[in-house]
Amino acid sequence: MAEIPLAQPDISEQEIAGVADVLRSGRLSQGPRLRGFEAALAERCACPGAVAVSSGTAALDLCLQALDIGPGDEVITPSFTFVATVNAIVRRGATPIFVDICRDTMNMDCADLARCVSDRTRAVIVVHLFGRPVAMDPVLEFCRAHDLRLIEDACEALGASSNGEPVGSIGDCGVYGFYPNKLITTGEGGAIVSRNLEFLALCRSLSNQGSTENGFLADRLGHNYRLAEPACALGVGQLARLDEFLKRRSTAAARYHRLLDGLPGVSLPPRDCAHGRIAWFVYVLTLDAPRARRERLIAEMAGKGIELGNYFPAVHLLDFYRQRHPVAQGSLPVTEDIAGRTIALPLFTAITARQQATVADELARVMASRG
Ligand SMILES: Cc1ncc(COP(=O)(O)O)c(C=O)c1O
Repeated sequence: MAEIPLAQPDISEQEIAGVADVLRSGRLSQGPRLRGFEAALAERCACPGAVAVSSGTAALDLCLQALDIGPGDEVITPSFTFVATVNAIVRRGATPIFVDICRDTMNMDCADLARCVSDRTRAVIVVHLFGRPVAMDPVLEFCRAHDLRLIEDACEALGASSNGEPVGSIGDCGVYGFYPNKLITTGEGGAIVSRNLEFLALCRSLSNQGSTENGFLADRLGHNYRLAEPACALGVGQLARLDEFLKRRSTAAARYHRLLDGLPGVSLPPRDCAHGRIAWFVYVLTLDAPRARRERLIAEMAGKGIELGNYFPAVHLLDFYRQRHPVAQGSLPVTEDIAGRTIALPLFTAITARQQATVADELARVMASRG
């Protein structure tokens, strides 16, 4: 394991004891911890309800299925995201249409949405990438004008807000992810929030084999996307500490800004956001150098015990997507320019000032030695 990992979960002794209690209780699934976690999430996200599921990917699958998106439909989303966002569209038999991104925020460029819409478009999946909130007004306006459903992929952005509203709560539905590198973790896990209780009830049913509210009768084709009680117990503890986590991450991001200010060959991420609060999920630099240099840099830093992340390759350039969903050459100029040059530095709640100084020093040394 790297001496300074890219990410690291923050689990308290109290949370460990809480999970142990669940294990001793004999109730390991569909019990009070699930209900407690969902209630806490709903409150945190200013929504009337939430459905906790087995991953962020499962949450995306359920939202698309509950919105009845399928073959023949098109869904607009950025290519500069984690591949899970786009895979969910393809699994439904629908077609992803890639929208370009803004150079500064690296989030969806709303000015490019008009190019992407057709009479087959059914929905937009907006991604609050790297914990940076998208300015939602133009997206909402676009979706209203074209009668499109709006899904917020907030897997990387729990705790971020856009114009005072929690991301995930603004569109028709929003999803979060709780993998161990995320802002809170349940090991594996995810959740859906919405202001529409009927929609949430449908998602809950679909997450549990299509069962009815009070029994095992399947009304529709569902999955097993349930989240187990120990994970929910951990989630309750983690969510209670989210504000503390966000503060620590934000402090660490500000420290990187100071340490890296003026480093030649890189651009630093935006320090803050005029329309909302950033949840510092990752600290992502953009290298001036072309993409091959990035992979070398990652390898050289790994040799020094420092783990960097290649967030993200553009989805439309991955082999599977090149073959299945080729895009017109030159239609995503900013995505193609930026993806491949971005690099994530270690960031987690317990990272020390000393560790961050080591990362900055080694980065400067490696970059200088490569000319
Ligand atoms: C933007 C985005 N969407 C979706 C997911 C999928 O979440 P999970 O890994 O919990 O399935 C992730 C997780 O890394 C993500 O970063």
